[in-house]
Amino acid sequence: MAEQQVMDAGSAEGHEEEGVRRRDFIHIAAVSFGGVGAAAVVYPLVTQMAPSADVLAEASVEVDVSSITPGQTIKTVWRKQPVFISNLTPEEIASVKAVDVASLRDPQTLEERTLPGKENWLVSKAVCTHLGCVPLGAAAGEVKGEFDGYFCPCHGSHYDAAGRIRKGPAPTNLEVPEFSFLSDTVIKIG
Ligand code: FES
Repeated sequence: MAEQQVMDAGSAEGHEEEGVRRRDFIHIAAVSFGGVGAAAVVYPLVTQMAPSADVLAEASVEVDVSSITPGQTIKTVWRKQPVFISNLTPEEIASVKAVDVASLRDPQTLEERTLPGKENWLVSKAVCTHLGCVPLGAAAGEVKGEFDGYFCPCHGSHYDAAGRIRKGPAPTNLEVPEFSFLSDTVIKIG
């Protein structure tokens, strides 16, 4: 009888162990399926977050600058923001280079704001760094401010021809976006 009890206890233990293993298996299986389910849910989200074709197209813009004569500035749009492209004259280049960089609020040389060998081509965001107005000075006849570059009419920030802040509340120079020359006459912004 006592032997029988021991055997019963042993088999009960065995069943319990088996039960535990089965529970483990069910638990592990559930976790695994949960993982698959989670991946299946995440995938469409990631797909939805990927940029659409029109957004990718806007990531960069190519501009033919062959018709921009020295002294002229055009305005283009990149990533929904206005951008100035200026073809600086030798006089403008000389004048911005003559400035003591250390005296500037946001010290930057023309070389640092242009590409090597192309320092006459200034590309800068047409967004005042104070509160985001579009500065004047690109179109013929527009006010260019006291430093012959750009003037922000919102609160009176003056930028020079290199787009550097010279007077007024704007804290920094007009931002230069990433750009490159695809050829002598085509600039790619972005
Ligand atoms: S937004 Fe240009 S000076 Fe304030």
